[in-house]
Amino acid sequence: MNNFENKKILLIICGGISAYKSLEIIRLLKKRGASVKTILTKSAKEFVTPLSVTSLSQEKVYDDLFSHENEAEMDHISLSRWSDLILVAPTTANTISKLSTGSSDDLASTVILASNKEIFLAPAMNVRMWEHPSTKDNLNKLKNFKYNIIGPDIGDMACGEYGEGKMTEPVEIINHINNYLKNLKNNENLKALVTAGPTHEYIDPVRFISNKSSGKQGYELAKSLKKNGFETTLISGPTNLKPIPGVKQININSADEMFNATLENLPVDVAILSAAVSDYRIKNIEKNKIKKKENMNLNLEKNIDILNHISKHNSLRPKLVIGFAAETNDISKNSKKKLLEKNCDWIIANDVSDNSIGFNSDFNEVSIFYKNMMNEKIPKMKKSLLAEEIVKRVISQLN
Ligand code: CTP
Repeated sequence: MNNFENKKILLIICGGISAYKSLEIIRLLKKRGASVKTILTKSAKEFVTPLSVTSLSQEKVYDDLFSHENEAEMDHISLSRWSDLILVAPTTANTISKLSTGSSDDLASTVILASNKEIFLAPAMNVRMWEHPSTKDNLNKLKNFKYNIIGPDIGDMACGEYGEGKMTEPVEIINHINNYLKNLKNNENLKALVTAGPTHEYIDPVRFISNKSSGKQGYELAKSLKKNGFETTLISGPTNLKPIPGVKQININSADEMFNATLENLPVDVAILSAAVSDYRIKNIEKNKIKKKENMNLNLEKNIDILNHISKHNSLRPKLVIGFAAETNDISKNSKKKLLEKNCDWIIANDVSDNSIGFNSDFNEVSIFYKNMMNEKIPKMKKSLLAEEIVKRVISQLN
């Protein structure tokens, strides 16, 4: 199915021998009903001419950051805002290196740095360049920055050598992006709800019981769901994190407020309950600040378990209910127990005794326990990347 109809694609062509294949990319995109604006880097013009690009795209070619004419017509910010997505094909080793440091010394790199859109890179270079540790390092950085990398393929190279580094064929690049657009369209009809952060259970007007949760993993999940097209609601306990553009956010303090906000925002297709909800609340919150005494007892009562409640809800149960388990020991045993007792579909477990992952860290390492008793371990990675991994699995499960 063609998902390119009326899509606006900004194609950036860098200087490599496979730049000639970019003309085919333009042709295929136009045939599928997309509008294509193109930026040529200085060295790309050694391989393809602006005239051939203009003839195929039927659009002016952009090439110079400091041109009055370009900036008057469409400046470097508007170019990225105009597009639905950006494709860089071919992406040379030099461009990969520049993007890994955020350098912006020409129009192409400036537009990419200033972009708020999904960016696809199709690398193409000699096998030795591709395998060089510096390229590998740079590429890892780009993956962390959430660029989408397509290919490269293995095969005979223009330079006569053989190996990995060939740009993926235009039709494959188009299929890859078409798939991304298809998922986006499908997901636009789907609703997601995420709970994140700690809760504050007040003792008196100035004191509360809480925990070490930063909310980072939940926010990254909401961000990734939104990016993948889901209509996303984030119910957040008190955190220091910034709201996510396009995500409906409801800020709460206590577990009780989180419970009510969750119910008010059902039904959804997927609920990911990543919040570290306090298990107990103070039975009688003091209206006035409690004065110091020799001894003090807190009278606690149990909070409602939100995950348990919605997993067992007859009419409003989301198709997919995912819980988290913060454990310090017996991770597998405790997670499987939670999975069964709370009747959810997956439990994502992490070891919070390790300070390099979990609470407040930017990294996480988790195991996912599935209802069918299978489980898988996802290695240590940035919380943002882990969120992408989890959302990828959510999409495939919902589809
Ligand atoms: N959870 C919830 N409501 C609660 C307590 C927990 O929705 N009142 C959810 C959390 O958001 C998480 C999962 O339940 O998705 C497991 O939370 P965790 O604190 O690890 O487990 P508990 O059930 O509280 O068990 P324990 O503290 O004994 O490990």
